Amino acid sequence: MRIYKAKDYKDMSRKAANIISAQVIMKPNCVLGLATGSSPIGIYKQLIEWYKKDDLDFKEVVSVNLDEYKGLERDNNQSYYYFMHENFFRYINIKPENINIPNGMEMDEKKECENYNKTISDIGGVDLQLLGLGHNGHIGFNEPEEAFERETHCVDLSQTTIEANARFFNNKDEVPKQAYTMGIKTIMQAKKIVVVVSGEDKAEIVKKAFFGPVTPRVPASILQMHNDLTIVGDEAALSKI
Ligand code: GLP
Repeated sequence: MRIYKAKDYKDMSRKAANIISAQVIMKPNCVLGLATGSSPIGIYKQLIEWYKKDDLDFKEVVSVNLDEYKGLERDNNQSYYYFMHENFFRYINIKPENINIPNGMEMDEKKECENYNKTISDIGGVDLQLLGLGHNGHIGFNEPEEAFERETHCVDLSQTTIEANARFFNNKDEVPKQAYTMGIKTIMQAKKIVVVVSGEDKAEIVKKAFFGPVTPRVPASILQMHNDLTIVGDEAALSKI
């Protein structure tokens, strides 16, 4: 496990964007596992800037997103489809057919999970997976459980996650109660994993997840077992380790 300490959010974003751009330069047709949330927004901004300067080319890149709310239309401004297009894809030259995000409007859970697992295996797995970290230790939407969920599944979001994400909606009742998420096994099969954490409110869970016992009660703790894990955090998020 490598830990890079950044001064602040901007510095964290730049450091993490550097790792992603190295991946794209070294393997132009790489598969990037992408994340939503407030943590990666600065990374996407930085990558867009480098793309505009002609330092990066995404024309052969394939993306696969971690998760999507169940029941939100793509054009709902809180869907992760919308988030990814608004914050990243519409500014770069990734091909639309190379973008993969779970289909939140597929009500047949079994069908959607099988489809997404097949998509990931058909593209040959993930080269670099970017992750944020939920306050309860969730990665993607893998919530604290009795056991690690392996592949794509439909989750009932925990109360803390619903409350944490309510800030993006008009009120708590509008937050979807379920989501599709890549499973832990798929995340762990990524060749490289980069976790970004920012802010004092993440300090406690950073300590638990990366220096505490490995347990499905803290899903991110499994990442300690990955052989190519990089954590990029700002001083506040790393203040307890
Ligand atoms: C959401 C997403 C996660 C993300 C987490 C943390 O629930 N499903 O993928 O990592 O929130 O979000 P933030 O980066 O805004 O703290």
